[in-house]
Amino acid sequence: MTPVQTPSIFAPVSTPAFAIRELSFFVLGITAVIFVIVAGFAIYTLIRFGRRPANPDLEPAQVYGSKQIELAWTVVPFLIVVVLFLVTARYVWGIERRAQPADALEITVVGNQWWWEIRYPKLGIVTANEIHVPVADAARPTPTFFTIQSVDVAHSFWIPQLAGKMDAIPNKTNRVWIEPRQVGTYVGQCAEYCGLQHALMLLVVVVHPKDEFQAWVAAQQTPPVDQATVTAGRQLFSSLACINCHTVRGTGGNGVFGPDLTHLMSRSTLGAGAARNTPENLRAWVKDPGAFKTGALMPAMKLDDTQLDQLVAYLVTLR
Ligand code: CUA
Repeated sequence: MTPVQTPSIFAPVSTPAFAIRELSFFVLGITAVIFVIVAGFAIYTLIRFGRRPANPDLEPAQVYGSKQIELAWTVVPFLIVVVLFLVTARYVWGIERRAQPADALEITVVGNQWWWEIRYPKLGIVTANEIHVPVADAARPTPTFFTIQSVDVAHSFWIPQLAGKMDAIPNKTNRVWIEPRQVGTYVGQCAEYCGLQHALMLLVVVVHPKDEFQAWVAAQQTPPVDQATVTAGRQLFSSLACINCHTVRGTGGNGVFGPDLTHLMSRSTLGAGAARNTPENLRAWVKDPGAFKTGALMPAMKLDDTQLDQLVAYLVTLR
């Protein structure tokens, strides 16, 4: 499990995020100058004229109708807005025009209430909430191109250190790409209010060295090994409603409404950040998902203690 991190757009590690930081500094610089001028005048006025006794005979200078002043406070802000617009447009264009190279990794991210489905269409991998990608070295950059979709409401895919926000909208496909230059774990979060558990749509991106990424791919592509000791739990899993919503590759379970569980235990959290993925939490989750995440679509299956033990014993073998 990775330590808790505060994701920041000012600590970028990926190409689009570097550009976004540059643009942020530019915009913050201009707005800081405006702030200092306006606040400076306000403070000066407060101090200079604040404590004078009211004198009805003393009228301030009337500048109404002054063309110079009106032109100044119209034209200058207009020019500032034009500059901000053009510079921003140039950055957006620069990021979006990048064509997908042939060797780019392709990932489809599907927003759900309230979790993320992560698919690697060319690699045959399906997982949830945690994204694994290779690092991009200067010699052979391998960017990752995301296809962003949603099955229900609008969500927003955002990993601040890697790229800008991208909306996940039903019936529309959006694109975003990253090119992380540094190995590590980066976190993100759904950035568009999407219902009760909007706050529990954690995203974790693990950037691996290239060979480590290949090992992860190979492990994910291998179906879990059937273990004779957990036969009872496996039979329970396939006889209950679990398989209507969940897939475990190599078994009869091929539901698609909930997260793919083929390698459930390779993920660090349950319920997209609702709890750490430990056997104890997993048992409590299966017993009553609503206790962790009110409104989660997974129902409490009303299992007795023996059934829970058997089921969890099976689930923890899905490594
Ligand atoms: Cu999904 Cu907010």
